[in-house]
This record gives sequence, C-alpha cells and structure tokens, in this order.
Amino acid sequence: METLKVGFIGSGFIARFLATAFQHVRGIELVGVLKRSTSEDISAFARQIGVGECKVYSTIKELCQNCDTVAILSPNYARLETVQEIVDIVKSGVELKGLICEKPLGRTVAEATKLVELAEEIQLPTAYMENQIHMKVVKNAIIQTARVQELMGPLTMVRSSEEHAGPHNPWFWDPTKQGGGALSDLACHSIAVSWFMLTPTGKPLDYLKPVSVNAETALLKWGSGIYRDQLREKMGIDYAKTPAEDFATGMVTFKNPETGFLSKAQFTNSWMYDKQGLRILMEALGPGYAFEINSLKSPLEVFIADSAADALADAETALEKATSSRGLIPVQPNEADLFGYTDEFVEVRDAFLAGRDALLNWRYGLEITKLCQAAYMSAERRCTIDLTDVNIQKELESYTSLIAQGRGAEVLY
Ligand SMILES: NC(=O)c1ccc[n+]([C@@H]2O[C@H](COP(=O)([O-])OP(=O)(O)OC[C@H]3O[C@@H](n4cnc5c(N)ncnc54)[C@H](O)[C@@H]3O)[C@@H](O)[C@H]2O)c1
Repeated sequence: METLKVGFIGSGFIARFLATAFQHVRGIELVGVLKRSTSEDISAFARQIGVGECKVYSTIKELCQNCDTVAILSPNYARLETVQEIVDIVKSGVELKGLICEKPLGRTVAEATKLVELAEEIQLPTAYMENQIHMKVVKNAIIQTARVQELMGPLTMVRSSEEHAGPHNPWFWDPTKQGGGALSDLACHSIAVSWFMLTPTGKPLDYLKPVSVNAETALLKWGSGIYRDQLREKMGIDYAKTPAEDFATGMVTFKNPETGFLSKAQFTNSWMYDKQGLRILMEALGPGYAFEINSLKSPLEVFIADSAADALADAETALEKATSSRGLIPVQPNEADLFGYTDEFVEVRDAFLAGRDALLNWRYGLEITKLCQAAYMSAERRCTIDLTDVNIQKELESYTSLIAQGRGAEVLY
C-alpha cells in the first residue's frame, strides 16, 4: 500500500490530536514537523505512538523536501505567509501531492480567497479540514435515514452547536489574530455540518444554495468581573478594550434549486459553556423522522468523590477542554475518532494519493468563510443578510468585521 508522507506546520493542540488519529489510519506517516518551541514534543510523541519518525525541520523548504503533503496547523493569522512560502517552494521545483489547511480557511473572505488562488496557481490538490462532516455518527445517521429521506423528503432543519468554556492559547482570544471569537472559531463547524446534513443524499456539497443569514453575537461571560480579570492575567488579553464574542447564534437559510423548498441550519456556538467539557450537539429534523448527536454522551462514566479528588489524573484525559475532574464524568475513550479526525485523514489519503482534491477542498472552505462573515455582518447591522444580493456578495469580498478589527466594544458592550 502506498503511504502518504505528511509534514506538519504547527505542533500545538490540534497537531497532537491529529497525530493520535494517525494511529488508526493505514498508509499515512508523520514524517516531519516545522521547528517551533513545541515541535520536539510532537516529534517524540509521534515516535512513541508509532505514527512516524517526525523529524524536526528548521525551514518550510526542508520540510517540503522531505514530505509529500503539508498540513497547515498553525494559528489563523499565519496562514497567508505560510502558503505563499509553500507556493514559492513548489514553483522552485519541490514536488508535493497536496496541501491541508485547518479550519477556518481565512479570517476574512479576502484572506480565504487569496489562499484558494495561491493553491490554484500551483495546481495542487487541497483539503480543508472540517472534521465534523467526517464524524462516524454523522455518516451513520445519514446512512440509517437514507431510505426514509428518499421516501419522505430530506431533512428540513438542523440545529448544531459546538461549545466549550474557552480556548487554550492567547492568540485564539485576540480577535485581530483569530478573526473574531466563538463564531469564527466554532460556527464554521456547525454551519458546515448542518449544510452537509440538509443536502439531499447523492447531491453535491453545494447543491443547496445559501440564501440568507441572520445572527447575533454577544459577550456573556468573559467581558466582566472575575472572568475579564482572569483573561487578562492568564492570556494577557484585555476584553475591556478589544473584546470578541463568547456567544453566537443564528440561522442560515438554504434553497433547494429544483423544488424551491427552504431548509434551515440553526447554529449556536460559545466559549461560555461551563459543563463537563466540549460539547457537540446536533439535532436533525425531517418529515416524520429525526436524529440527535450529543458528544457528551458516552458509554463510559467515571465518578470521583471530593474525598478522592486529590489523586486525580489530568481532566483532559476524559474530554477535550474538560473543566472538572470530580463528580460524574463522561469519558470519551477515542475522541480523535469520535470527532472525525481519523476518517478525514482516510479520505485525504485516498484523494491525494489519487492526485485529486479531498471531498472538502479549499474552495469549499471559502464558502464556509463567506457564511461565517455574513453572520458577523448580520450581527453587526442587526438585520438579515440576503446572500442572493449581488451588492452584499461584493461587500463580503472586502468585509472585515468590527470585532476582527479590534473594535468589538462597539458591537458587544
Ligand atoms: N478541527 C478542529 O476541531 C480544530 C481544533 C483545534 C484547532 N483547530 C485549528 O488548528 C489551528 C491551530 O490550532 P491549535 O489549537 O493547534 O493552536 P496552538 O496554539 O495550540 O498551536 C499552534 C502551533 O503553531 C505554531 N506556530 C505559531 N506561529 C507560527 C507560524 N507563524 N508559523 C508556523 N507555526 C507557527 C505554534 O508554535 C504551535 O505549535 C487553528 O487554525 C485552529 O482553528 C482545529
């Protein structure tokens, strides 16, 4: 079996998670990582779990010369310069099979568009990493309801949310670096997976046309009192001056181009979810059928009493972004698989080895960026954004939300 040799740019949180997923994918190897403060850790971890030699390379050029796929897992603000450098390296004669980029593709539509153009310049297959579409529970729900969908009609409404108590590194909290707050960080997942689930079986990903977006952003937890102080002390970010939203909710309306029927994707995303840990919750409703996915439901529950809490392991071994290490704790034994990281790499491996784009390419990532930015526009202007309006489409091309400009106080206070 041919092997896809992957090199990581970025050796932080998601890099480690994805390396874990490699344990369950055949024909894929983590051959290298770009040198950064945490790269030795990921390199040692990769060798320890047997997913590749993962040598540390000092430059992007050396990394590209020693792998055939580059996965961009660095912070959102570093995307453009990284991809520009890779494009120059490929133009100088280094061969690659493909480029992977984590979500969100861009902090603005302009940035995402530029990334698409750069990849197209060197005609390299791309993969946009939206893991939720690859979740086994999502795929199984669709398989299980395929026949009923055929007889009764497709889903008409999907509610989707991803929420947790707040990100782990300062740059996520800085709206100018990250591109916003919880909406930019998490609604890209919820909007994408809802669009995917609403799409009638067998139709292309962009079959349903997004016609409007309505959204609200708010700062419900991290903008005041002890939480604002905590943020300043731990992350060095002052939400009195440059806040981002820690809560966002809204609705994207899609139109079926053949029947004219409308369907709705309702999203809720937050960094103020003080429960056991990160929760992905999806509820899909169709005519006469429904399904629900809740990532906090696990067949394994552990109970730790107060009297035993001192002896406890790191809470995050139970769940991503776990906030508690005692009481009744749901434990997900294989989050990399649950969240779809395993299956997304199986799909990327097959696509890149065959010389084609992954199911979700960067053009798809651009469409998701457009929907997220339209949501910011809606929240800012307090109105529904008509995505069929050519003037709005034009405006979105150069739009940067007030929150991403560092002017969130004008919207959130
Ligand atoms: N799909 C998911 O569920 C998911 C989950 C978490 C993060 N992500 C995405 O992955 C990306 C990284 O997030 P993370 O949580 O791993 O962040 P992180 O802060 O934990 O790690 C970032 C890594 O990038 C490195 N880095 C910083 N600046 C760089 C630069 N200029 N060039 C190259 N490397 C640089 C850092 O040293 C670090 O190793 C983000 O875009 C985030 O949105 C996706």
